[in-house]
Parts: sequence; C-alpha cells; structure tokens
Amino acid sequence: MASATIGVAFGLYALWPPNLETGFEPQQPIEFSHALHAGVDRLADGRQGMGIPCLYCHSEATKGPHATVPPVDTCFKCHSQVEGKGPDGGPHPEIAKIFDAMESKKPIEWVKVNDVADFVYFDHSQHLLAGMDCTECHGDVQNMHRVKRDASLKMKWCLDCHTQAPTEHTSELYARQNLRSAIHCSACHR
Ligand code: HEC
Ligand code: HEC
Ligand code: HEC
Ligand code: HEC
Ligand code: HEC
Repeated sequence: MASATIGVAFGLYALWPPNLETGFEPQQPIEFSHALHAGVDRLADGRQGMGIPCLYCHSEATKGPHATVPPVDTCFKCHSQVEGKGPDGGPHPEIAKIFDAMESKKPIEWVKVNDVADFVYFDHSQHLLAGMDCTECHGDVQNMHRVKRDASLKMKWCLDCHTQAPTEHTSELYARQNLRSAIHCSACHR
C-alpha cells in the first residue's frame, strides 16, 4: 500500500512544475526587509537593524512541520504606531499596504521561496529540537533585504547532511549508526 502510494506520488512528480532553484529571489507584495527587522548590524543607509528574534514571527517552527509566515496582525502590533515616511512626506507606501490589509481583512499573498515537493515529509520542529540554527538551511536571512533561497531542497541536499558525522545533539539511534540523521526512505517518504 505504502509503495503504491509512493509510486503514484513519484509518477505525479514528473508533472511537477520546473522546480524553483537555489537563488530564487522573488519580489514580494510588500518590500519587507529581514535585514532591517531581524538584523543586528547597521544598514547601508545608516539605520540600525532591530534584532527582532526569528521566532517572534516564525513561532510555529518549533511546534510542527511549518515555520509559517506571520499574519498581518503581527506586523500591526508595531505598525499601528509606525507609519514611516514616504518620499512625499506622507506615510511610507510599503507600510501603507499593512494598513490596507488590516482594513480589507485580505491576507498578504507572500510568494513562497522554499518549497519541497508535496510527497516529501519535512518537519521544522524535528530539526530545531535537534539544536539546529535557521542559517544551516536558509543562509544569512538576517542580513537579506529580500529573502533569497539558499538551498536546492533536493534529496541529495537532505542526505548530504543526514549522512554527516553525529554532533553532540544527535539522538542515540543515529549516533550508533555514525550518522547525523535518518537515511531510510520511509523517514522522508511516508
Ligand atoms: C517581523 C517579522 C519577521 C521576523 C522577525 C523574521 N521574519 Fe522571516 N519572514 C517574515 C515575512 C513577512 C516573510 C515573507 C516575506 C519575505 O519573504 O520577505 C518571511 C520569510 C522568511 C523566509 C522565507 C519563507 C519562504 O517562503 O520560504 C525565511 C527562510 C525566513 N523568513 C527566515 C527568517 C529568519 C531566519 C529570521 C531570523 C533571523 C526571520 N525570518 C525573522 C517575517 C519575519
Ligand atoms: C517589533 C516591531 C515591528 C514589527 C513586528 C514589524 N515592524 Fe516593520 N518596522 C518597524 C519599525 C520601527 C520600522 C521603521 C524603521 C525606520 O524607519 O527606522 C519598520 C519599517 C518597516 C517598513 C519600511 C521599510 C523602510 O525601508 O523604511 C516596512 C515595509 C515594514 N516595516 C514592514 C513590516 C511588515 C510587513 C511586518 C510584518 C511581517 C513588520 N514590518 C513587522 C517595526 C516593526
Ligand atoms: C533542516 C533545514 C531547515 C532548518 C534548520 C530550518 N528550515 Fe525553514 N524550511 C526548510 C525547508 C525544507 C522548507 C520548505 C518546507 C516545505 O515546503 O514544506 C522551509 C520553509 C520555511 C519557511 C516557509 C514557510 C514554511 O513553513 O514552509 C519559513 C518561514 C522558514 N522555513 C523559516 C525558518 C526559520 C525561522 C528557521 C529557524 C527557526 C528555519 N526555517 C529552520 C528547511 C529548514
Ligand atoms: C543541515 C542538516 C540537515 C538538512 C539539510 C536536513 N536535515 Fe533532516 N535532520 C537533521 C538533523 C540534525 C535531524 C535530527 C536527527 C536526530 O534525531 O538527532 C534531522 C531529522 C530529520 C527527520 C526525522 C527523522 C526521524 O528520526 O524520524 C526527517 C524526517 C528529516 N530530518 C527530513 C529532512 C528532509 C526531507 C530534508 C530535506 C528537505 C532534511 N531533513 C534536511 C539535519 C538536516
Ligand atoms: C532525508 C530525506 C530523504 C530520504 C531519507 C530519502 N529521500 Fe527521496 N527525496 C527526498 C526529497 C527532498 C526529494 C524531492 C527532490 C526534489 O524536489 O527534486 C526526494 C525525491 C525522491 C524521488 C523522486 C526523484 C528524485 O530523485 O528527485 C525518488 C524516486 C526518491 N526520492 C526515492 C527515495 C528512495 C528510494 C529512498 C531510500 C533509499 C529515499 N528517496 C530516501 C528526500 C529523501
């Protein structure tokens, strides 16, 4: 049964749209800057990064499969007070979109940057509980103005890491096999 399911899934895989590759850096509906919000360094324009913790906005990451992108309410916690300044002296046009979204109750349609094939099982919490840092898979998001995909998310990418030597965080099961994590097919293909 399981193998029949996998067979169908891999059949459908052939129809998968051309996979989004490493380096994918789409324009987003709001020019939201991680460097400004999550960064701690001074930006080229002289402003200081605000150092908001990743999990303030991506709080689901430690709880289950999806890190998720925060709802506009999360932005509004601050932006109800912060309108910024646009070139014409009025509110910043990108921040104005937050007010529009709150008013219209329409979610902001962020473009997904990292997306694994649907027949693959991936869970953020399993990785974060093992002591991993976001940068290991997403690169230096903290200093990006626009998020850029850092990894292929292909099977080889997963396995190149899982077959590494165990670390101090590695669970007994894999440490005994001298691996960093699972390599059996059913771990990722269920
Ligand atoms: C103030 C809220 C906020 C904070 C803090 C924040 N993010 Fe984000 N993050 C977002 C939003 C909104 C998006 C979607 C828009 C975009 O891609 O810029 C996003 C997108 C992402 C994506 C791409 C999602 C996808 O589609 O694949 C990654 C990866 C990410 N964030 C990682 C991080 C990391 C790592 C940190 C900490 C260094 C962090 N974020 C801090 C709000 C936040
Ligand atoms: C913890 C508070 C806080 C949160 C949460 C927050 N912001 Fe901001 N944001 C700010 C502040 C403060 C500024 C103004 C920084 C400045 O001009 O020095 C700002 C600036 C901006 C700007 C203008 C960028 C620029 O170059 O001036 C945009 C756009 C923006 N935020 C979008 C968002 C979005 C979208 C979210 C939710 C995903 C969000 N912010 C969440 C505090 C926050
Ligand atoms: C072991 C690698 C790995 C680590 C560590 C990791 N991610 Fe991800 N992340 C991924 C993969 C793979 C995807 C695509 C998942 C999918 O399509 O289901 C993803 C997707 C995302 C997304 C898009 C929304 C979603 O949930 O699919 C966000 C946002 C994100 N990651 C943020 C983070 C943050 C923040 C951290 C650290 C707290 C983090 N990630 C740690 C591999 C990782
Ligand atoms: C940079 C390293 C790294 C990358 C890349 C990575 N993982 Fe992992 N993965 C880990 C670690 C570490 C663990 C936790 C191992 C342990 O239990 O100690 C883990 C655990 C898992 C588990 C849970 C295994 C179990 O015991 O049930 C699954 C499933 C998994 N990863 C899937 C994936 C998939 C799918 C990808 C690629 C899309 C991926 N991982 C990419 C490091 C990584
Ligand atoms: C650590 C996670 C992981 C393990 C273990 C794993 N795979 Fe995969 N596999 C993936 C990911 C991720 C993809 C999706 C690649 C993509 O989107 O291009 C994939 C894709 C595939 C595909 C589709 C074609 C391709 O190569 O992209 C086949 C077939 C496949 N896996 C078979 C297997 C078999 C058989 C095993 C056991 C020997 C296995 N996988 C073990 C993560 C894993």
